[in-house]
Amino acid sequence: MRKNTVPIVLTLLTLIFTGAFIYFFFAPPAKRIGPEQPIPFSHNVHSGVKQIQCQYCHPYVAYSNHPGLPPVEKCLHCHNYIIVKHPWIQKEHRYFNTQTPTPWVKVNYVAEHVLFNHQRHINSKIACRECHGQIENLHRLPQKVWRMGMCLECHKKKKANVDCWLACHS
Ligand code: HEC
Ligand code: HEC
Ligand code: HEC
Ligand code: HEC
Repeated sequence: MRKNTVPIVLTLLTLIFTGAFIYFFFAPPAKRIGPEQPIPFSHNVHSGVKQIQCQYCHPYVAYSNHPGLPPVEKCLHCHNYIIVKHPWIQKEHRYFNTQTPTPWVKVNYVAEHVLFNHQRHINSKIACRECHGQIENLHRLPQKVWRMGMCLECHKKKKANVDCWLACHS
């Protein structure tokens, strides 16, 4: 073994650890703010500052398994008149003119075998923010993976049905 092998290896290890540290130190915030969207839509601008109701844009949330995201026509109801020349609004027009559905990136996920239905929840007067947090304060939505525990925690607190899960998993 050459005399300077040990210092070289140590130096390399230090470099690797420093690199990894810097990477992980800076990477998480980018993940926390969520995936980049095709148009940098801001809930804070629309629901916070301009106070547009959630259900104006998500009208089917109480009736459908797939509340869905607003079609670009809905954006243009307003943006045919508001900040018309903005490059992001021009991009809306391109989607509209080419009949391309806006490729929004989904941020909420439930396990595949779970069919989540908003209806029961909204009918029992649970506010959007109890599950989604204060979306009206956010510009970009963070990713959220729903685990069973998150459903059960509230079901226990509110004395809602937990039988199904207990039966399935015991
Ligand atoms: C009891 C918890 C809960 C409440 C209350 C709730 N949501 Fe949700 N929401 C969820 C979960 C869980 C998902 C992910 C469901 C899925 O991927 O199928 C979701 C998904 C969504 C989606 C995305 C749907 C899609 O098609 O991808 C929208 C939009 C949404 N919620 C809007 C709302 C609005 C608006 C309200 C209030 C009127 C609301 N939610 C109230 C739990 C809730
Ligand atoms: C009910 C009216 C209304 C609807 C519907 C609407 N917007 Fe807006 N939007 C506004 C207003 C008001 C502003 C603020 C304009 C300003 O700053 O002068 C705005 C601002 C914006 C901006 C610039 C925001 C920024 O961060 O500076 C973008 C991008 C945008 N909207 C995209 C959308 C998209 C995409 C949709 C459809 C999903 C949509 N809007 C639907 C009223 C609306
Ligand atoms: C002006 C239209 C508009 C309004 C008002 C609005 N949203 Fe949205 N919402 C969108 C668009 C567009 C997306 C997809 C882009 C994104 O994720 O930011 C979205 C995405 C979402 C999602 C994530 C869907 C997913 O991918 O899982 C949730 C949850 C949601 N909205 C809830 C709300 C709640 C709660 C309110 C009221 C506080 C609200 N929205 C008000 C247009 C709107
Ligand atoms: C913030 C509280 C809360 C959260 C979070 C929540 N639920 Fe619920 N859920 C309730 C309440 C309260 C009821 C009872 C509604 C009723 O009695 O009509 C309910 C009812 C249900 C029902 C109908 C049960 C029955 O009696 O048939 C299903 C299914 C359900 N939730 C699934 C889910 C799933 C899946 C999730 C997680 C993705 C979830 N819930 C998250 C509060 C919540």
